[in-house]
Amino acid sequence: MRPAALRAAIEADLAAGVVPAIVVATIGTTSTTAVDPLPEIGAICAEHGVWLHVDAAYAGAAAVCPELRWSHAGVEFADSYCFDPHKWLLTGFDCDAFWVADRGELIEALTVMPEFLRNAATESGAVIDYRDWQVPLGRRFRALKLWFVLRWYGVEGLRAHVRSGVALADRFAARVAADDRFELAAPHPFSLACFRLPAGDEASAELLRRVNHTGRVLLTHTRIGGRYALRLAIGSPLTTEEHVDAAWALLSAAAGDLLAT
Ligand SMILES: Cc1ncc(COP(=O)(O)O)c(C=O)c1O
Repeated sequence: MRPAALRAAIEADLAAGVVPAIVVATIGTTSTTAVDPLPEIGAICAEHGVWLHVDAAYAGAAAVCPELRWSHAGVEFADSYCFDPHKWLLTGFDCDAFWVADRGELIEALTVMPEFLRNAATESGAVIDYRDWQVPLGRRFRALKLWFVLRWYGVEGLRAHVRSGVALADRFAARVAADDRFELAAPHPFSLACFRLPAGDEASAELLRRVNHTGRVLLTHTRIGGRYALRLAIGSPLTTEEHVDAAWALLSAAAGDLLAT
């Protein structure tokens, strides 16, 4: 998200008599894991009283590592923030961790209080009714599995997992960068590397098809600035340097065959 474009959009809304209500910024976009410039975006939202939600669904896990917290600069501007431990923090699907600066506004929007839900504990104000923080009334005890993950791995275990993913993506990206047949398609701040064949979109798409057809890897793709890119994502605690090197060997051999024809 470009701060200048955001400011222009807000100003255009105001000029048209429309009230801008919410901005959703992303730390670690789905396609490429890009990080929005939150300090600038947050200041613009604060200036205009616009709710700022920060979506760190995947990259929120990076914040367990002090050296990766640069990615969360400006998060203090957030009115709400979420990340999914089920993505990169070793927790079974599904589990979203949600934080809100002022729960009053959320509860005001979502609370329902039919007679059959009235009870003394709620009325005393001594309990937090999380049913008022969401659209459904009922909820599963998702926090329990996250608690087990935190207890089992501990903070150092979680950090080791995240650091391993980042190091493996770096290792793979270094192979890509050193080979003229390939190019990196975006920065790789976390555990995803996006790359392509400069030979073109069709060649890149065919490369993806061929390596996935072997059944030994499963890569996905995206488009960056309209151009096709392959995505190699690392997330399992079982993935090692040998797996990454094997994936690279497979890609390299397939590219060799493809570019020779
Ligand atoms: C940045 C981002 N936001 C949201 C989502 C959706 O996540 P959920 O599983 O919570 O629906 C994804 C999933 O890919 C994501 O990468």
